[in-house]
Parts: sequence; structure tokens; C-alpha cells
Amino acid sequence: MKALVLAGGSGTRLRPITHTSAKQLVPVANKPVLFYGLESIAAAGITEVGMVVGDTQAEIEAAVGDGAAFGLQVTYLRQEAPLGLAHAVLIARDYLGDDDFVMYLGDNFIVGGITDIVRGFDSAARIMLTQVSDPRQFGVAELDADGRVVGLEEKPVVPKSDLALVGVYLFTSAIHEAVAELKPSWRGELEITDAIQWLIDRGRHVEASRITGYWKDTGNVDDMLEVNRLVLESLEPSHDVDAEIIGRVVIDPSAVVERSRIVGPVIIGPGARITDSYIGPFTSVGADCVVDRSEIEYSILLPRASIHGVGRIEASLIGHDVEVTPAPNTPRAHRLVLGDHSKVQISS
Ligand code: G1P
Repeated sequence: MKALVLAGGSGTRLRPITHTSAKQLVPVANKPVLFYGLESIAAAGITEVGMVVGDTQAEIEAAVGDGAAFGLQVTYLRQEAPLGLAHAVLIARDYLGDDDFVMYLGDNFIVGGITDIVRGFDSAARIMLTQVSDPRQFGVAELDADGRVVGLEEKPVVPKSDLALVGVYLFTSAIHEAVAELKPSWRGELEITDAIQWLIDRGRHVEASRITGYWKDTGNVDDMLEVNRLVLESLEPSHDVDAEIIGRVVIDPSAVVERSRIVGPVIIGPGARITDSYIGPFTSVGADCVVDRSEIEYSILLPRASIHGVGRIEASLIGHDVEVTPAPNTPRAHRLVLGDHSKVQISS
């Protein structure tokens, strides 16, 4: 079995972070979300990975390389435009040959890996489903009384169930015939949901399993922060600094922490400097960040961000090289230099 990992797309819901960075490389507990997926593919015993990339190819390649660090052989497959998940299968046709494959969306996060998911695959396709509170944002499955999939719909306005398609799919080469027949959907994409429906309509056996473990599509900031919280909760504490430390806290030996209070779970990356500050639960501080005379909680700081003397920050995702500083007291005004699509909440 091969793996097809999708690491293209434009990441519009994570702008402005994704103007300069691939959404699959946004860190969770200081490690790109994509790496968790690659690790679980390797753990499932798969070694050959086709990585579908778009405009952010250079950045993904710089991070993943030839895959050897994960025990994988990665082949890059360029998708000229984000034309849909089924389009990714279409351009991977030659790479995949007639092999079975697991398709893994690079911004999906599945606790517990995929080893159980790929085991014993002997139908035309296998999809994974999970209950969600707002199915309109996902592909949605309709099951009959025996639990068989009878219909699939992409982002339905009126969902027929609350069972969303998770971003891990198993396919045999039968999927190539389906994909070749598709027409673009209302959103202009070749939908994998439609390709699976094509198989169902022709009487092919499509298995559906529920995943019981935790799953998130990390497409937006709230979901990123939530996944970060979850991963931080399982950290093995390790630190050796002169500061007040409570709970699960990992501090890189090259980070400096002085006159500060750190309440875990928290991870602090290499070269970071935390002085006269409070770092609260569920926070990841990236490499070479600076936090001085400030309080920060339930947030992700990407490498080299700096926060100086600004009081409390919560539930925030702060990009590479961002500087947050106080304004002079008079006149009382906010002065902002924000990238396109930034989102700022100011308490007055
Ligand atoms: C894609 C699929 C959708 C699935 C979701 C899971 O949505 O089209 O069926 O439920 O991934 O993350 P997209 O990320 O393209 O909005």
C-alpha cells in the first residue's frame, strides 16, 4: 500500500499566517501538523508516499525533504492549482499505478494514528466517519439501517446526518475510473466525495467505519488551538530553569526563562527568552520567541515572534517574526501594521 498525502491548497481560513506559510506546516506543540500525519503513515508500515503540493512546494520540500527522517520515500507531485481532492488523485495516477493507497489530508489531525484504519482492507474503498456539531462544513454520509453508506454529499446546506467524512480514505485502483468521469462541483473542484458516490452508485463495496478517537481538520484558528491543547496535555515534562514551573512543561535546554511563572501544559522552543512573564496552560512558544513583561495563555507563537509589555494575550495564533509592543499612553489610540486578512480583537 502507498500513501497519497495532500499538502497543497491555499489555507484561506488561516490567513494571514498562510500568506507566507503552508497550512500543513503550522506547528502543533512546536511540530508541523503534517509531521504527525507522516509519522502515523510510517507507523502503519507504509513507506512510499506521494506528496501532492501546490504553490508552497518549496516550503514543504524544505521541511520534509526525501522523507528519510520519517523512514519514508517521498515523491513530490505538483498540482498546478487547488482543483480538488479528486484532482489530486487524477494527477497522481502514474505514481499510484494499480496499488491500493491511503489518501491523507495533510492538515488533518488524528489521535491514535492510522494503523487500525488501514488494517484488513479488502473492499473498493473505505471511508472514516465521525460525529460533528456542524456537518455543513464537511462531506456528509447518509447510512441505511444496516450502517451501509447510501449517499455522500459535500458541504450540504441541509445535511442528512451529523456524520462527517474524516480526511483519511482507503482506495483500490477502482477510484481512478471514478475520478476520470467526474465533472467539477458547484465550488469548481473535483470532489473525492463525488468519486466515492460514483463507486456506490455502481454497486461497489464502500466500507464506512466510525472513528472513535479524536479528529480535527486544523483549517481554522480555533481548531489549531484546540489540537495544540490536546497534544500539550500528553507532553513528558522536561526542564531545568530557575523559574516557577507548574504542571507539564517542556523547555528546550537552549531557552532562557527568568523571573517568570509557567503553568503547563506548555512547550518552549529552542532559543526562546521568557522574562518577567506568565505563560499559561496550552501555550506553544516557538523557537527564538521573546516574551517579556507579558502574560500569554492558550496560544501558539510561531518562531521569532516577540511580545513586550502588553499585559494579557489569550486564544491567539501569532505568526513568524511578529512584534507586539505597547503604544504610548497619550494620545489613547491603537496603532496597527497588519497584513492582509489579519483578524484583531481590541478591548477598549
Ligand atoms: C475536505 C473534504 C470533506 C472532508 C474534509 C475533512 O474538505 O472535501 O469531504 O469532510 O476535507 O477535513 P475541504 O478541506 O476541502 O473543505
